[in-house]
Amino acid sequence: MPDTHIVNNGSNNVALDGMHWPDGDLSRIPDWIYTSAEVLDRERERIFLGECWNFVALEAELPNIGSYKRSYIGDVPVIVTRTDEDVFKVFENRCAHRGVEFCRELHGQANEFICPYHHWTYNLSGELISVPFRRGDKGKGGMPKDFALGDYNPKHFRVARRNGVIFATYSKDTESLEDYLGPETMEQFDVVFSGRELKILGYYKNRLNGNWKLYHENLKDPYHATLLHVYLATFRLMVAGQKSAMICDHMGRHATAASAKDDAIEIGDDLVDEMKGAFRVGMDLNDGEFTRYVPEFDSPWTVTMSTIWPNLIVQRELNTLGIRHIVPRGPHALDMYWTMFGYVGDSEEMTRHRMKQGNLMGPSGYLGVDDNEAIKFLQDGFKNSIPSEGVVKLDPGNEGGTDTLISEASIRSLYRHYREVMNL
Ligand SMILES: [Fe+2]
Repeated sequence: MPDTHIVNNGSNNVALDGMHWPDGDLSRIPDWIYTSAEVLDRERERIFLGECWNFVALEAELPNIGSYKRSYIGDVPVIVTRTDEDVFKVFENRCAHRGVEFCRELHGQANEFICPYHHWTYNLSGELISVPFRRGDKGKGGMPKDFALGDYNPKHFRVARRNGVIFATYSKDTESLEDYLGPETMEQFDVVFSGRELKILGYYKNRLNGNWKLYHENLKDPYHATLLHVYLATFRLMVAGQKSAMICDHMGRHATAASAKDDAIEIGDDLVDEMKGAFRVGMDLNDGEFTRYVPEFDSPWTVTMSTIWPNLIVQRELNTLGIRHIVPRGPHALDMYWTMFGYVGDSEEMTRHRMKQGNLMGPSGYLGVDDNEAIKFLQDGFKNSIPSEGVVKLDPGNEGGTDTLISEASIRSLYRHYREVMNL
């Protein structure tokens, strides 16, 4: 029985050496990178806790001194706080005593965090400040005499911010956030996060039954856009033939799928034929607001979807804006935390427009729901079929950025980077 079969049955005990990724070939992706618990452990160590800047929160979610938010780096629970000194801190949400996630609320205002189990108490700066019955009771019990609170602080992460977005890294060696993003990704990032104050409009959360990397691949895969997404193609948010691009950083780990809606584009019979799964001739929307773009950005693109490695998607779909925060939940699932926002100073009409267009996205969004389902179909294939490999050969010879939808070049560049970091 080949090793990969054992891995697909969920064993933790198979050495990574037993999993062979064909040398030098980026056009084939072995199934086991999506199904192995051991691969996920290595991803936690080398990616999420490695030399990466992870998204943790938007500053708008921590509006005051004493604001906090529960968040995740990979699947590691953390707390983001705004301290008395107006500094943003990120530390592990794990009681030093017995490992309980001591902060239980999603977000709020606090002076301190009290672990529910034995009331060990932490301040907003992430320091252990009290332990009940530390000196025992009536001279009996209690902690050893040399017990020092300062030896039991939660693990801290370095913090970097850019225009209202908070990132954290566990590695002391991670480059600056700006160098990490690179100029190509930063240019797209700064269109949405220009420094204008954000106004949070709401949250969604859903579990997707697929490996977390599939979400990155989905947004680095422009090929599926006009084939899977009936809404996108039929109502001309994105059709083959319109101006579009995949913009990558030089490392190949981040990418922005960009397109420019063009209502004047002629959709000839040949294109209709290629898109026939998704393009419904003669269908129209009763409410054109869903696809109307109110110009507001200095950008040639009406849609940009940026995947910022390893856990952030920045979504600008017409006028609906949001971020998606990826949290792996074992090899076979991820939790997606969606935060939708506009800007302080938006008119009421603009806020309503953004919220209406927000129906395109989210767990059951007109577009989002297709991807959620496709990711489950992929994972089912990896889990249930005879172990094999996926094929990503479109647009041969290219890697990274491209100006055609019919390409898998940026999936290949992601896996070049991934294989290096993971040593696979
Ligand atoms: Fe999609």
